Amino acid sequence: MTGVSRADEPPVASLGRKIFMDTSLSEPKGQACISCHRPEAAFADARAVSPGAVKGREGRRNAPSLMYSALIPALQFEDTYDEDGELEYILEGGLFLDGRAQNQFEQVKMPFFDPNEMNLADDAALAGKLRKSEYAGEMKTLVGEERWQDDAMLNEEAYRALVEFLREPMFRPFDAPIDDFWAGNRKALTVSQQRGLDVFETSGACSKCHLVGVSVWPNALLSDFGYDNIGAPGGSTKDPGLGGETGLKDELGQFRVPSLRNVALTAPYLHNGSIKTLREVIEFYNKKDLEKDRWGATDYPETVNHEDLGDLKLSDQEVDDLVALMDAFTDRSVLTMKKGQQFPEVPEGVPSREEREAFFKEPLPRVDVTMPRRPKKRAE
Ligand code: HEC
Ligand code: HEC
Repeated sequence: MTGVSRADEPPVASLGRKIFMDTSLSEPKGQACISCHRPEAAFADARAVSPGAVKGREGRRNAPSLMYSALIPALQFEDTYDEDGELEYILEGGLFLDGRAQNQFEQVKMPFFDPNEMNLADDAALAGKLRKSEYAGEMKTLVGEERWQDDAMLNEEAYRALVEFLREPMFRPFDAPIDDFWAGNRKALTVSQQRGLDVFETSGACSKCHLVGVSVWPNALLSDFGYDNIGAPGGSTKDPGLGGETGLKDELGQFRVPSLRNVALTAPYLHNGSIKTLREVIEFYNKKDLEKDRWGATDYPETVNHEDLGDLKLSDQEVDDLVALMDAFTDRSVLTMKKGQQFPEVPEGVPSREEREAFFKEPLPRVDVTMPRRPKKRAE
């Protein structure tokens, strides 16, 4: 069976794996996390938007990859300086493309109760289904009698299990060609990909947001987890992104910078799945401001970043090289999954749970996203 746990998987993560795959938890039955986060698409959805458990309903965003999602930092303020040298605070991190879940713990509960997703009515509905699940016996033993009986407590255990599951090493293998290249194997990238990497870091300035620097993980996550509006083609209704959460006009239409790891497997692209191929995404970055008719209207033109993209003046060769580079971000363990294999194997050398315990923090205090961003300068 493909859903079976591994010998080295702690019981709580193993429970999380079962919950992740359990299609009996939705209302009506038929949908699980894995229905929209597909293994063959690096746990993203190949459909632009995902249909919900209820026939006829659908969400408004493209389901992102869950590879490396446990490494997205919790929502926090970063201090920075604006064009006039004034100190200001910008938001970074957070889960969902608009950061509305401040951390992983907040995120994993939401799909269950989203009417466009698993559509459960309340705590009692989820707890009732968990008590009738195939893994009920195992879960009861794990959580103990008292928590098993209490709806809210039982659900908390399910969320904890999902969080632990998504933190498992198989979701963060760092075994893409780019990782081999950074480890010193120059041949891991083709000549075109090496040129692409150069464009990525220089004339294309992609690495300004899709960072190639390393912080605490062995290699780069290819995101700074900040928010920006790159001017994605709009959908039928406007999507306010970060601004919808913070209420700030400047942040309307901004979405979190995605990691580009496994991006070659996660078409279609952008927050609404409006662009079908990676070549088109790169053409969009390169010439969007010169070919307005090609891309159609964007939801919030007033906040679009025209400084870093839209007219990059890259040659056709450089565009080809960037497209080629995107394949270098694909993890071998995901790419080589066999048909029917649900989860990638863990390659050698991936930091274990214990090694990274300090990184996976318990929920931090919530950030007040409405706090004034431009405080009076503090006295030195
Ligand atoms: C109906 C499809 C659907 C189902 C079912 C679903 N998701 Fe998602 N998931 C999405 C979409 C769409 C988004 C992006 C939504 C947004 O940003 O507003 C998302 C976002 C996420 C994210 C945030 C990733 C990031 O980069 O911020 C995580 C983590 C996640 N889902 C985990 C889960 C888990 C765990 C479950 C099961 C409890 C689940 N999802 C069920 C569609 C789905
Ligand atoms: C100013 C910051 C910034 C720069 C510079 C930047 N990006 Fe992005 N990138 C983003 C944001 C934000 C998104 C998500 C936008 C959305 O969903 O509406 C994104 C999305 C993408 C996506 C789609 C990913 C997905 O999963 O849908 C690709 C591919 C991509 N960028 C590649 C590049 C390349 C290649 C460059 C350089 C030519 C580049 N980016 C430069 C911020 C940036």
